Amino acid sequence: MPEFPCVVYLNGKWLLHQEARISVFDRGFMLGDGTYEVISFYEGRFFHFEDHIGRLQYSLSQIDLAFDTSVLEKLCEEAVNRNALTDSDGAVYIQITRGIAPRQHAFPASVRPTCLIYAIPVALGDFEKRQVTVKTVPDSRWSRSDIKGISLLPNVLVSEQARKEGVFEYIFVRKGMITEGTHTNIFFVKNNILLTHPADHHVLSGIGRRVVLDLCKELDISFEEKPVSLSELENVQEAFLTGTTTQITSVIKMDDIIFNEGKTGTITRKLQQGLIGLTRPGYFV
Ligand code: PDD
Repeated sequence: MPEFPCVVYLNGKWLLHQEARISVFDRGFMLGDGTYEVISFYEGRFFHFEDHIGRLQYSLSQIDLAFDTSVLEKLCEEAVNRNALTDSDGAVYIQITRGIAPRQHAFPASVRPTCLIYAIPVALGDFEKRQVTVKTVPDSRWSRSDIKGISLLPNVLVSEQARKEGVFEYIFVRKGMITEGTHTNIFFVKNNILLTHPADHHVLSGIGRRVVLDLCKELDISFEEKPVSLSELENVQEAFLTGTTTQITSVIKMDDIIFNEGKTGTITRKLQQGLIGLTRPGYFV
């Protein structure tokens, strides 16, 4: 279970989480008008920090929210230090909302964004030992899933369904094509080619997704950014999920289809070893 952090950063102040307060008129609270990032760290070292900040800048630009992201690196480091996590694995959460203003849908004339940052420990070891089951559900989200917005109601409702049914993740399907999970991207191996949905408006361009595609180039694994249809699943040999805290998690069953006789496949294993090499320097010596 996730924990509360000890201290959080809120608009220039470091506060005990119990003492941090935002206005009921914060547009994040009232309208879901904001964006966020989750950045992992391994033994205190951030993983692909600049890529996460780059994606945050993209989300901010897409929702027309002006915020100077150059302050974030120092603040994220401080969040890790202040929560005594410099030798631990964990994740930093950053949320920027449009700020406080009387409720109206259109943007207020002048407003200061609200910035929240905190760090928590997360168990990031042994991901390669996990083998999970997932199910599919129609993609009920809006058509800008490339923006990492804080309005996550469809993801929340479907995640709760997964929890109740004891499956790891629900995977969204749009017009017969598999897009992504509620908090993960998904990959399939078909005829020795790795396939994943293109990074268009219907999926989040995951940092984990990009790391996997880079590893493919390094490890000589053929890949295509091409959606997989539900009807193709019968011919899929391997599947896995990626995400900041999900890392590379092997999927052995999707709805009623079992992949690779319920075992993690060879290409998945290679990529998992590649990720371990990137996140645990010294592991292979
Ligand atoms: N979720 N797709 C969705 C819808 C996501 O919410 C996430 C991440 C991903 C994977 O992106 P990345 O590899 O950059 O983490 C894909 C985060 C971790 C969250 O909401 O907690």
